This record gives sequence, structure tokens and C-alpha cells, in this order.
Amino acid sequence: MKEIIVEGGSPLRGDITVQGAKNALLPILAASILTQDEIELTNCPHLSDAVCMLAMLRDLGCRTEETDGTIRVCARDLAEMPLKDALTCRLRSSIFILGPLAARLSHATLGYPGGCDIGLRPIDLHIKGLRALGVTVTEEEGHIHASCTRLRGAEVYLDYPSVGATENVMMASALAEGETVIHNAAKEPEIVDLQNFLNQMGGRVAGAGTGHITVQGVKKLHGCRYEIMPDRIATGTWMIASVLTKGDIYLRNAIGEHVAALTNKLRDGGAEIKKDGDGLRVRMHKRFRAGGMVETMPYPGFPTDLQSPMMTLLSVADGTGMLMENVFENRLRLAGELKKMGADITVRERLAIIKGVQKLKGAQVHTFDLRGGAALVLAGLAAEDETRITDDHLIERGYDRLEETLYALGARVRVRE
Ligand code: UD1
Repeated sequence: MKEIIVEGGSPLRGDITVQGAKNALLPILAASILTQDEIELTNCPHLSDAVCMLAMLRDLGCRTEETDGTIRVCARDLAEMPLKDALTCRLRSSIFILGPLAARLSHATLGYPGGCDIGLRPIDLHIKGLRALGVTVTEEEGHIHASCTRLRGAEVYLDYPSVGATENVMMASALAEGETVIHNAAKEPEIVDLQNFLNQMGGRVAGAGTGHITVQGVKKLHGCRYEIMPDRIATGTWMIASVLTKGDIYLRNAIGEHVAALTNKLRDGGAEIKKDGDGLRVRMHKRFRAGGMVETMPYPGFPTDLQSPMMTLLSVADGTGMLMENVFENRLRLAGELKKMGADITVRERLAIIKGVQKLKGAQVHTFDLRGGAALVLAGLAAEDETRITDDHLIERGYDRLEETLYALGARVRVRE
């Protein structure tokens, strides 16, 4: 268990470069096994989730190497070997391996995926999509088995635009025979990044970023070099941190379009957000003004991953704010921890009503999930006195050296392992 000790009160100021996107890197690492050639990925954040994914790839016979933001994967000797349940159950993204592995080797066995405890996280849509491509999927004794002859292109209709299911079907169908059309596909920017990566490998994927993705299967994919997109959730977290602390942060490489839903809410509350060169400048001079409802939805709606940092901001806002969590129900558990710091939050099922208080007070709090953990660190920045956050290494799943970025921005933060 790690303890992060934050002394609040300093406005965050300075320039930082936004890390590469966790949610683009994880599916792209899984997609690397679609070719026998070497893949080189640049702009990779150093995250424990990526370390875990790389360990799984090595268990499948891949060669992997990670140095200074570059990851190389070579799946020439890919073999269907049992993956350690201890790894698959640590990571929701382990499910990404199912589609590509079935496409390359015609067989795949996987323990049930884990990940942050943020609510029910079924995999029915992944399975439905793979079955449509001709994969036989069976589940027994806590394991999922997939087998097929050659995958066949198909019309896949997703009942919900699941990010992971869209990606799994895209990866598997890249090597299928004929055309696949994914209807009601997720539109997140990370899906576009996966499309670009698959096309860089010689794939024929079009339509990512819209609700209909078309994949023309090819016989073989080849190696490539690819740069991972900037992380829009890390971008949003730092934007909220700047507004919360009445700071002034320049986010190099941030893509404004990817955070439009958040930008709109922050501007409504009085923040100054400007595109500037290759990034965004986020400034705030006064107390954030709450107003209306923030409702999480699939992209381009307000992202569920930024709901927790937004709850911290609303806790000290001028007025009453409301947050409706439509994607992962357990994310509102953060309210209990913020209340220990003096926040005034009432939770009714998926709705949180947050009456802004003048100041939060430092307290001993505990992280339940990755984004909730970051939200507690932000709360510490805005609180009087010292906040001690016990973190079961959840924050490092998604934020690359969070504490170092905070020091660089002038925050007073210490870590005790
Ligand atoms: C991805 C992101 C995660 C983000 C989420 C929503 C990665 C690695 N993680 O997670 O950070 O919070 O998108 O933007 O990219 N669902 C089903 N059946 C399925 C799959 C999903 O019912 O087979 C439901 C989930 O329970 C959830 C909703 O669909 O309520 C959204 O899940 P999904 O879009 O699949 O999220 P993930 O891919 O797990």
C-alpha cells in the first residue's frame, strides 16, 4: 500500500506534456499479436496496466522490450499457452487478447478479466461480436475458450457502443475473410487510434469515429512503427486540477476536440481555456461556478472517466451541481471519501447532488479505483492542511508518474511506500 500525502493550497502553474493514452495503448498492445513482425510503439506512458499486458504477451511467447516511452513487441513465436489468472484478473483489458489470439492461432483461452471495481463489467458484447465472426466461445470453470477455423466477416450489431467490444471485433476481423461492418460502434478517439494502427500494419479499416466501422479482412498484417495518441483523460484531469486550484497550466500535445464536453462545462463555470500552439492553456481566477447537470455518456458525451475529478471540483464550487453516472455505477463511491473531507454530497442511485462548500479539509482517505484515486489527489490540492491518500497502486494503472507531474506544477506532494 502506498500513501500519497498532499498539502493543499498551492495553485498549479507550469507547462507539462500530456502522456500517451492508456486506453489507446492497451488495445494496440493486444493488436500487436496480429502480426509475426516487430511492432514499435512510441509515446507510450509507463503504467502498471501496460506492464501487466506486456507480461501476458510474454506468457504467450512474445518478445517485448520497454525503454523510455518506446515499446517493442514481436509475436513471431506466439503460442497458445495458458495465461496466469493472476494477470488476467488484474486487468479488464486482458479481454482484448481474446479476439487477436483467436484470429492468429484459431484458439484462445483466458481467465475472466478483472480491473477497477467500478460496477458490473460484463463481456457479453465482446462474445456476441466474436461469435458473429464465426468464433465458438464457451465458458467453463471461470475461463473463456475461443476456437474457430478461419474467421468470416459479418454484420455485427452492438446493443451498446462498448469501447472494448468494438475494439475486440475490429482486431479479430482485421484478419477475417471478407467484410465486417460493426453497427452502433463506439466513437471514442482511441477507436480511431486503433484503426490508424491496424491500417499502418496493412489492415483495411474505415469509419472509426462514427457509429459504423467497416473492416475488409486481409490475409496478413505486417510490422510497423506507431505513435500512441495523447491521453484525453489525463488531459481532462489536469484541466480540472488547474480550474480547481485557480491555476494556470499549459498542456502540451493536448487535443482540444477530444475534451470538448469537459471544456464546455469548465467554460460555463468561468474557466479560461484556449488552444495555444500544440496544446491547451487552462486558467482560472475565481471560484468555479456549478450549474446544471453533468451526465456521463459514450463519446462525444461527458466521459465517465472524468466524472470523479469533476465531483471533486463540484465539491468546492459556488452553487449546487449534479452528476449522473450512466456508465459505471460504482464510481459514485468516491462521494463517501470526499465527505470525510467535508464535502456535502447526497447520492441517490446513479445521481450525486453536490452542494459546494468553501473549503475541503485534509483527511485520511482511500482510493477505490484509478480515476477516483486521482480525484482524491485533486481534492487534497484544494483542501486545507494535509490529506493522506492510501492507494493500493491503483493510480499508477493510468497516470504516468503522477507525483512528478504534480511537483513540476508546484504542488506539495510526498509519497510513502
Ligand atoms: C473503456 C475504457 C474505460 C472507460 C470506458 C467507457 C479502456 C481500456 N477502458 O472501458 O477507461 O471508462 O471504456 O468509456 O479503453 N458493457 C456490457 N457488455 C460488454 C461490454 C460492456 O454490458 O460486453 C457495458 C459496461 O458494463 C459498461 C458499458 O458497457 O456499463 C461501457 O463499457 P465499455 O465501453 O465496454 O468500457 P470498457 O471497454 O470496459
